[in-house]
Amino acid sequence: MSADVRHDAIVLSHLSKSFGNVQAVRSIDLTIARGEIVALLGPNGAGKTTTIDMILGLSRPDTGTVTLFGASTRDAVQAGEVGGMLQTGSPPQYLNVRELITMVASLYPRPLDVDKVLKLTGTMDIAKRSTVKLSGGQTQRVRFAVALVANPDLLVLDEPTAAIDVEGRRDFWNIMREVAADGKTVIFATHYLEEADSYADRIVLMARGRIVADGPPTEIKAKVGGRVIRATLENVDVAELSQIPGVTAADRRGEGITIKCADGDACDKVLRELLTRYPGARDFEVRGVGLEDAFLELTANDEDDEDLEQGLL
Ligand SMILES: Nc1ncnc2c1ncn2[C@@H]1O[C@H](COP(=O)(O)OP(=O)(O)OP(=O)(O)O)[C@@H](O)[C@H]1O
Ligand SMILES: [Mg+2]
Repeated sequence: MSADVRHDAIVLSHLSKSFGNVQAVRSIDLTIARGEIVALLGPNGAGKTTTIDMILGLSRPDTGTVTLFGASTRDAVQAGEVGGMLQTGSPPQYLNVRELITMVASLYPRPLDVDKVLKLTGTMDIAKRSTVKLSGGQTQRVRFAVALVANPDLLVLDEPTAAIDVEGRRDFWNIMREVAADGKTVIFATHYLEEADSYADRIVLMARGRIVADGPPTEIKAKVGGRVIRATLENVDVAELSQIPGVTAADRRGEGITIKCADGDACDKVLRELLTRYPGARDFEVRGVGLEDAFLELTANDEDDEDLEQGLL
């Protein structure tokens, strides 16, 4: 089977998976076109890994289907069209890094050159090291090399930069960009809005097994990238605070005020305005709305809240 440009890279249709009474993935529909770089963003337990495992054919959906390049997962994986980088599992023992990558390359019909992959993933200098003697960040690089050497059209990465330091993260994504530039499709799971924003064309937001938002990073940032300003300010009218341009909500408890704004830029403007209007304001504190909070807000009217309250989710 060959990758067919007429087919989308990934089509998930009514996909569901439960573990006992935990509904990890709840009837999701998702289509990812060839060449898209998509971030699957969500808090712990959102269902990202469960979805990724089903895309990779590592676990079977309870209901619904996964179609990759118009074919079944199994056919696409066998044809070497899919490369996966998992959140768990360790590389086989007794092999060094080069041997591992070489072995994986031998399993696929059109692998990349092993040296090229070692260079690209920054694993050349650990090529002779045993795969069980690597640091967390090095292990991630090797996992990436394993996914890459198959030369797949679709890369599926579960939190690829977990355990990698900030500099390493940047390197990783630069490599990824290079790799993706020749038309590969990439889907990666992450907890970090910043990472999704910087490296994806599209963000699919998951919470509690559902897709709660799907769109370009700017749109998603507007939904979950909010900031909260706290300050001490005596005798102020909340309605007055709410009218400051850029403020999306305001609240007052005693002398403590809480103001929400849509993003960092809006927040800067609001802060300046606050200081001008209320020179007596003090004890400023600004923080991002945590993803968890943002998700809770986005899913506040979820009809399954009752289940949540009953501890079923
Ligand atoms: N093998 C399993 N057995 C039982 N429950 C599971 C299993 N795998 C996942 N779950 C549950 O399914 C839900 C979704 O888990 P999943 O691993 O898909 O989340 P995630 O979005 O990848 O989270 P994280 O960000 O922590 O990796 C969670 O409530 C989790 O506890
Ligand atoms: Mg996970």
